Amino acid sequence: APSGAGHAHTAPSGAGHAHTAPPASVGRGTATVVGKPARRFTLTAATATVNVNGRNVQAWTFNGQVPGPEISATVGDVIEVTLRNKDIDRGVTLHWHGYDVPNDQDGVPGVTQEAVLPGHEFVYRFRADQPGTYWYHTHSASDIGVRKGLYGVLLVHPATSEVDSDVVVPVHTLDGVVLPAPEEAAVPAGTPVRLRLINTDSTTHRYAPGGSYRVAAIDGRELRDPPTVSGTALLIPAGGRYDVVMTAPAALTVDGRLLWSAGGATAAPDGWPVLDPLTYGQSAPGPFARFDRTFTLVLDRGLDLRGLLPRYAHTVNGAADPDIPVQSVRLGDVVRFRIVNRSLVVHPWHLHGYHVLVLSRNGRPATGSPLWLDSFDVRPGEVWEVAFQADNPGMWANHCHNLPHADAGMMLHLMVS
Ligand code: C2O
Ligand code: CU
Repeated sequence: APSGAGHAHTAPSGAGHAHTAPPASVGRGTATVVGKPARRFTLTAATATVNVNGRNVQAWTFNGQVPGPEISATVGDVIEVTLRNKDIDRGVTLHWHGYDVPNDQDGVPGVTQEAVLPGHEFVYRFRADQPGTYWYHTHSASDIGVRKGLYGVLLVHPATSEVDSDVVVPVHTLDGVVLPAPEEAAVPAGTPVRLRLINTDSTTHRYAPGGSYRVAAIDGRELRDPPTVSGTALLIPAGGRYDVVMTAPAALTVDGRLLWSAGGATAAPDGWPVLDPLTYGQSAPGPFARFDRTFTLVLDRGLDLRGLLPRYAHTVNGAADPDIPVQSVRLGDVVRFRIVNRSLVVHPWHLHGYHVLVLSRNGRPATGSPLWLDSFDVRPGEVWEVAFQADNPGMWANHCHNLPHADAGMMLHLMVS
């Protein structure tokens, strides 16, 4: 385990902004980073009234704001985040969605740590070694907690970057209103812009970049030679991120509503075809020639008779959390999951601790750039095959990221040891 990471202790207070601290020594496995000051942040979870379009909304906030402060770092940094809970009775944790941290930093209450109760704190520490767009959110009572505002953006910048302007668009629906309407960036025509699109809701959103663009990365992983497209929409699953590179004038429409524009561009029309990430970009052979373990997950709906009153549960292989058996693999195994959706609703699947390589959908092999995802929509009737090498030890949550579904049973665990 990383030394000194993840235990609760008393730290000097900070106001949610980065400041330098003494050198830290942490890492995944036995790797060590020394001699560089940590990027330190403090997030205090508290109920607060926030203003949404002139209306007061009772929210759950980090540092009084929704979304919480952006946590950003550059590859090679050490990130240290002190989480405090002021008055969230359901407890709070930080899960680094899509960022593959060591298990004891993963923020799953009852699995990797206890929920942080009011008056308590927990310190997370991990190395910034995976450039890309991520987000963080509470994993304690996550259905209600994320919806009410306990989330924020996590960015890891590469050491050098080719794009001049970053625009981060973490779409979230707070009390029926889609946040944010980002400030119109004063971007002169001809400037390349990297839009970092993040879906923090529990349902799919439809994004239409108005102008020609290329999808440079999905779920924090760069695509191989992405072509330039236009007149094409993107469906981003719950929890998913797309990095879109455009040249101003440019615009972004989300679910038919103009959310951002630069250089005078206007809204995109509805009805555009949707880009299929499985056939996009330059194909290359995947790394897996054989699989040590194959698991099938059948997603469905069933009656849960365990409580006082029967209720509908979202099930995996006929069972609901916490009655779904743990799936165990050996460290280093190449693992394949077949995910079958037999229900009538979309299930945005999310495995903690890993990105998975998409092998096929409905029996048709993925033919585009190798696609390493941490969040993907399994639509009704679909079968996805994905694979990964189990090189990150620990007990990992594996669940539907429609958080009410996860809360209603669609959550299981993978043990890697
Ligand atoms: Cu974004 Cu288990 O969560
Ligand atoms: Cu679901």
